[in-house]
Amino acid sequence: MPGAIYAEGLVKTFGDVKALDGVDLDVPEGTVLGLLGPNGAGKTTTVRVLTTLIKPDRGSAVVAGIDVLKKPDEVRHSIGLSGQFAAVDEYLTGRENLRMVGQLYQMSGRDAKVRAGELLERFNLADAADRPAKTYSGGMRRRLDLAAALVVSPPVMFMDEPTTGLDPRNRQQLWEVIQELVAGGTTLLLTTQYLEEADHLAHDIAVVDHGRVIARGTSDQLKARTGGERVELVVHEREHIPFADDVLRTFGKGDSTIDHHTRKVTVPVSGGAKLLAEVIRELDLRGIEIDDIALRRPTLDDVFISLTGHAAETAEEADEAEAQKERKGATP
Ligand SMILES: Nc1ncnc2c1ncn2[C@@H]1O[C@H](COP(=O)(O)OP(=O)(O)O)[C@@H](O)[C@H]1O
Ligand SMILES: [Mg+2]
Repeated sequence: MPGAIYAEGLVKTFGDVKALDGVDLDVPEGTVLGLLGPNGAGKTTTVRVLTTLIKPDRGSAVVAGIDVLKKPDEVRHSIGLSGQFAAVDEYLTGRENLRMVGQLYQMSGRDAKVRAGELLERFNLADAADRPAKTYSGGMRRRLDLAAALVVSPPVMFMDEPTTGLDPRNRQQLWEVIQELVAGGTTLLLTTQYLEEADHLAHDIAVVDHGRVIARGTSDQLKARTGGERVELVVHEREHIPFADDVLRTFGKGDSTIDHHTRKVTVPVSGGAKLLAEVIRELDLRGIEIDDIALRRPTLDDVFISLTGHAAETAEEADEAEAQKERKGATP
């Protein structure tokens, strides 16, 4: 119970935008909940409510055994938060930032120094440790922000899109750090746009859309719910996409999805290999040339599409959205 997160009926309105429309969550102690959802779904708002940064209009929440609305100060001492809104002091060096966090959490000067050194190594910031944070690149800042959240190991951690903007190597390293944290008993609520990240790290996944949790389960449970296999094909000529789509929809048992960029068309099916042979015959009959065709199990992407009606952002799109936000923020 002390390391867990509970929320019931969280509602938060900004003007006429209902950012949260009754969010219920529970994260058992020592587990990772992945909060997945499209842009604007309410992920950050949920994290901000649970970390006491904003008050909900309605609902209640208990974090680390403490009532979030009644005792926000106590909650703040029991949690770690990293992500889109965490504070790194621009004018301090990376090392100074981390030592300062340690001292804020009542570590001794010596312990704070040692811990800062460890984290700087761990997040590949050792070379830049003694430069002011304002000279850091976006990816370096993000790593510093994460390191700051890990100076003390609180029983409950929140990470809002921790790896957006990180390159694959740094993402992989962060995953390792997260796995160690959780092995040590930390309860974690993680928001992410990367389905692979949720698949890899989260014990449980909650899919949010329009301020509500619309599905909940393990990655495998969600995939099973999304139904059986998919036929996925890549047409040789972009012009053939609509024709291939037509064929797949005839054989499929749900909506098809088209990725124009990769010329890929996918549809859920039941019927396995026999059906695949029929699809190939029909494509051949209609003179549609294909580069690739396969029968595959649903991925978390398919889950996301079938639940929210659209594809999750790719890493590039998420990074671009982030960059746009930064550009917007820069103009007064
Ligand atoms: N401070 C705010 N003022 C006005 N609207 C906001 C504010 N914060 C969030 N919103 C709106 O609430 C909705 C949910 O936002 P958010 O929780 O940031 O979504 P996510 O993190 O899932 O992308 C969006 O429509 C967003 O524009
Ligand atoms: Mg967000």
